[in-house]
Amino acid sequence: MGVSIEVNNLNAWYGTNHTLQDITLHIPANEATALIGPSGCGKSTFVRCLNRMHETNPIAKVTGEVRVGGLDIYSETSAVEVRRRIGMVFQRPNPFPTMSIYDNVASGLRLNGYRNRRTLDEVVERSLKQSALWDEVKDELKKKSGASLSGGQQQRLCIARALAVDPEVLLMDEPASALDPVSTAKIEDLIFQLKSQYTIVIVTHNMQQAARVAERTGFFLNGRLVEFDSTHKIFTNPGDKRTEDYITGRFG
Ligand SMILES: Nc1ncnc2c1ncn2[C@@H]1O[C@H](COP(=O)(O)OP(=O)(O)OP(=O)(O)O)[C@@H](O)[C@H]1O
Ligand SMILES: [Mg+2]
Repeated sequence: MGVSIEVNNLNAWYGTNHTLQDITLHIPANEATALIGPSGCGKSTFVRCLNRMHETNPIAKVTGEVRVGGLDIYSETSAVEVRRRIGMVFQRPNPFPTMSIYDNVASGLRLNGYRNRRTLDEVVERSLKQSALWDEVKDELKKKSGASLSGGQQQRLCIARALAVDPEVLLMDEPASALDPVSTAKIEDLIFQLKSQYTIVIVTHNMQQAARVAERTGFFLNGRLVEFDSTHKIFTNPGDKRTEDYITGRFG
């Protein structure tokens, strides 16, 4: 099941660059939340703070509170556990290129010590079905490498890999921006399906995409969260002039 994410007074830095300033927002469980805003406003940094990836950068610093399903991910659990519970999919599909499709999906489970063949088979099949890739690859699971798939298939493989370890949250940083319209539509359909089981946070530059898939939308500007509301409100009657300027294409 998905869980809620509560972010309170989050600040993040790269060296002396104060990249995120006092971000407070509460993301409900089992919804898709879209994050929009001009390039460099801090969207990727924000999602990386939600699964403790930001701190893997040696010059990075973070303060504030992030609660996922009530648990403070910075003080009440480990980074490894956080990244199992909170999966991430990136802009460029990044399957392990030399591994087979099967091994790509099973990699997270193996890392967590699972060896039972039947369990692995079951999870690989379930995950590939969830990511709507199963029918296209089921006959070549162990023959074909991750790198031999098309870009759109690779992205669905990466989603399957993320789902295989049974996360509660799926973070997607521009998951469709490198894909053609057909693959993009598949990813959007998928987000719709996955919402019933996971909480989804999606960064996108595509306003129509945000409007199609997300219940709520947050608008970031210069490291601050300007507005966070229902997607409908953000796109039809935003409360802040800067949001309106952005969504109507006046800047950014
Ligand atoms: N690894 C890094 N080292 C130093 N500064 C960084 C690093 N990554 C991002 N930044 C800086 O942090 C700020 C926010 O960047 P971020 O990548 O979060 O923006 P973004 O909203 O995701 O942009 P885009 O839409 O282009 O992906 C920018 O000023 C950027 O230069
Ligand atoms: Mg980004």
